Amino acid sequence: MNLPTRPLGTTGPAVSALGLGLMGMSDVYGDSDRAESIATIHAALDAGVTLLDTGDFYGMGHNELLVAEALRTAPAAAREKALVSVKFGGLRDPDGGWSGFDARPQAVRNFAAYSLRRLGVDHIDVYRPARLDPQVPIEETVGAIAELVEKGHVRHIGLSEVGAETIRRAAATAPITDVQLEYSLISRGIEDQILPATRELGISVTAYGVLSRGLISGHFGRDRRLAANDFRGMSPRFQGENLQHNLDLVERLRKIAEQKGASVAQIAIAWVAARGEDIVPLVGARTRERLNESLGALDVTLDAADLASIEEAVPADAAAGERYPAAQMAHLDSER
Ligand SMILES: NC(=O)c1ccc[n+]([C@@H]2O[C@H](COP(=O)([O-])OP(=O)(O)OC[C@H]3O[C@@H](n4cnc5c(N)ncnc54)[C@H](OP(=O)(O)O)[C@@H]3O)[C@@H](O)[C@H]2O)c1
Repeated sequence: MNLPTRPLGTTGPAVSALGLGLMGMSDVYGDSDRAESIATIHAALDAGVTLLDTGDFYGMGHNELLVAEALRTAPAAAREKALVSVKFGGLRDPDGGWSGFDARPQAVRNFAAYSLRRLGVDHIDVYRPARLDPQVPIEETVGAIAELVEKGHVRHIGLSEVGAETIRRAAATAPITDVQLEYSLISRGIEDQILPATRELGISVTAYGVLSRGLISGHFGRDRRLAANDFRGMSPRFQGENLQHNLDLVERLRKIAEQKGASVAQIAIAWVAARGEDIVPLVGARTRERLNESLGALDVTLDAADLASIEEAVPADAAAGERYPAAQMAHLDSER
C-alpha cells in the first residue's frame, strides 16, 4: 500500500507522512512482546510506512536487532522501501541506566560500525546524534557523519533535540535532512525559535512524543500501574496532581474527538501533522492495534475551526510538569 508522503528536508528523500518509532519495543516503557513488535513493524511496512526510527542505545542494541529481524523477514518490496533512521551517542550501563553522551568523531565511527553490523545493512539512511555532546563542537560530530556519507555508510544526516544555533552551525557544515524534536499539543516549545530556523534552512522536523508518551492518547488511565523500568514513572507529567490536570485536558480533547468521529490519539496526531508539510509525526505504537489507530489519523482532516477548538481546549502552555525529569532536561540543547 501507499501512504501520503512528505519530504525529509530539501536534501532528503520523501517518507511516509507518518513514521514508526521503535523505542518502546525495547526500552523505556516497560516490557514489550517481541513477536507483536515484529508483527507491528511488518504491518506498518505493509500499510506503506517507510520511515522506521531506532537508536543504538534502545535496549543496548536490542532495538537494532529487532529492526534487522523485521526487515529480514519482510517481503522484499517493503524492505526495499524502508528507510531506517538511527540515533547514536547515548551511553548506558549494565543496569539499564543512562550515563551521558559521546559524539566525538571516533565514537561516531565506532557506533556506526556496530549499527551497520547489527542492522545487517550496508548503509544507514539517516544517522543522528541523540543529543548534543557538550564536550564536542557540533561541526566535529556532523563532519564525522559527513565522512561516513562520502564513504557510502550513511545516506543522510539528522539531528535530535538541539536548538536553533546548533542547527545553524550543523547546516553550515553539511546538509541536514531533519531534526528530531518532541512536539505535541502539550509540548510546543519548538515553535518560538527552532521551527522558524528549520523552515528557513529547509530542514524537516520528525516529531516524537506526539502523544506525550501515551499521556494524551486517551488510553492512559489515572490508576495505571507502571513497571519500575517505565520512564513515565519518573516523568513529571505523570505524577500526582500534574497527572490529574493533564488527564483533564485529555477529557476536553475527547469531546472534540467524539464530534469528529475520531479517537483522542488520532486528533493529537492529526494536529501535529496539520502544523506543516515539513513535520513528520513519529508514533511509538508497539502493537498492531495502536498502529492501526495511529494510521487512522491520516484520514482525519482538521479545518481551521477544528484547529481553533482543539487549541482552545488545550492551550499551548496547558500541560502541568516538564516533559523530562530535571536531570534529562539538562541534556537538551533545544531547551537552552
Ligand atoms: N530524539 C529523541 O530524543 C527521542 C525521544 C523519545 C522518542 N523518540 C522516538 O520517537 C518515537 C515515538 O516516541 P514515543 O514512543 O516516546 O512517543 P508517543 O508516540 O507519544 O508515545 C508512545 C506510547 O503511547 C502509547 N499509545 C497509546 N495510544 C497509542 C497509539 N494509538 N499509537 C501509539 N502509541 C500509543 C503507547 O503506550 P502503551 O503501549 O504503554 O499503551 C506508546 O508506548 C520513539 O519510538 C523513538 O523512536 C525520540
